[in-house]
Amino acid sequence: MRTMLEAVSTPARILIVDDEEEIRDVLMTSLEDPAFELTGSSNAMDALDKMRDARFSLVISDLRMPGLSGLDFLRTLKECDPDVPVILITGVRDLETAVETLRLGACDYITKPFDLFAIRRSVENALERSRLALENRCYQMELERLVRERTLELHGALKEIEEGYRFTLEALAAALDAREHETRAHSQRVREYASRLARQLGLAGDDLIHLGRGALLHDVGKIGVPDSILLKPGKLTPDEWVHMKRHPQVGYDILQSIRFLAPAAKIVLAHQERWDGTGYPNCLHGDEIPLGARIFAVVDTLDAMTSDRPYRKALSFQTAWEEVYRCSGSQFDPDVVEAFLNIEPGVWKEIHDLVNCRHQASEAGDVLCQR
Ligand SMILES: [Fe+2]
Repeated sequence: MRTMLEAVSTPARILIVDDEEEIRDVLMTSLEDPAFELTGSSNAMDALDKMRDARFSLVISDLRMPGLSGLDFLRTLKECDPDVPVILITGVRDLETAVETLRLGACDYITKPFDLFAIRRSVENALERSRLALENRCYQMELERLVRERTLELHGALKEIEEGYRFTLEALAAALDAREHETRAHSQRVREYASRLARQLGLAGDDLIHLGRGALLHDVGKIGVPDSILLKPGKLTPDEWVHMKRHPQVGYDILQSIRFLAPAAKIVLAHQERWDGTGYPNCLHGDEIPLGARIFAVVDTLDAMTSDRPYRKALSFQTAWEEVYRCSGSQFDPDVVEAFLNIEPGVWKEIHDLVNCRHQASEAGDVLCQR
């Protein structure tokens, strides 16, 4: 297969195929020009052999030749090299044949006896059209290459931005977790749990991404809760509860104005709602609660029960699993609970251990960095 540059190079290589030597000679004489490099061939098979060995810019061929006919020759060479322009010459004034040659891809059809100026004009036109077509194709290929290159660069840049977002959100969540000492890595655990449960429910794509962000940032509104309330070891007074119950709304207000976090903000707003309508801040009921928040509610309880508290040690995953079952239809969406129960307690324990391990490794890395 010839390359684009070879095809547009000069001098233009022209293959003249005719079984009559006299005709070949006439054509070669009439086309003598430093711009052309002429090769003669007496039959189609020989011409095909020559085309295998060398690249031609144009083929002029007789239609009626012994052996392979001009039409079959045209068909075969177009299969091998669809770009090469072909001019067919024949003594037969046959409109049907002319139409057929054009249909098969010939660029011109000239009848004998031919006008040598007409041949020359036809050759020059064919070469010019071919050159323009090839230049256009080269230009198009270059454009496509540039588009591919820029698309890759854009994907790379978007990936970097996305990574930047991810690290920023994780740092923010880590800061929130660090404030409530006993809940270290809580946000990362609930993100992983929520993601696993969401996949069990068939969620994918952007829904998973928004849920992950919502889970990671669910307590961002606790920024507005004073330490005296957030870190209070004993029970909260009614007034203190009023403060505490504002945190979903505060979190929502912080996140909803950031465009890529707006879907996650809805999960943050509803993460303390309960299926039976007794949650807060809006006492939403059943399906009124966004699915992401219903998923989050289950895994938040799972993590709360399986984490150490100042007043008790962590409970087992089996105990948490049973508690989620018990609260199906009251605190939790029964469909979400069913999906949760279809996952073995051991799977949740594995996720728990993996996140904690990662968290400890990153803390150890931070300590090393500070030395
Ligand atoms: Fe919360």
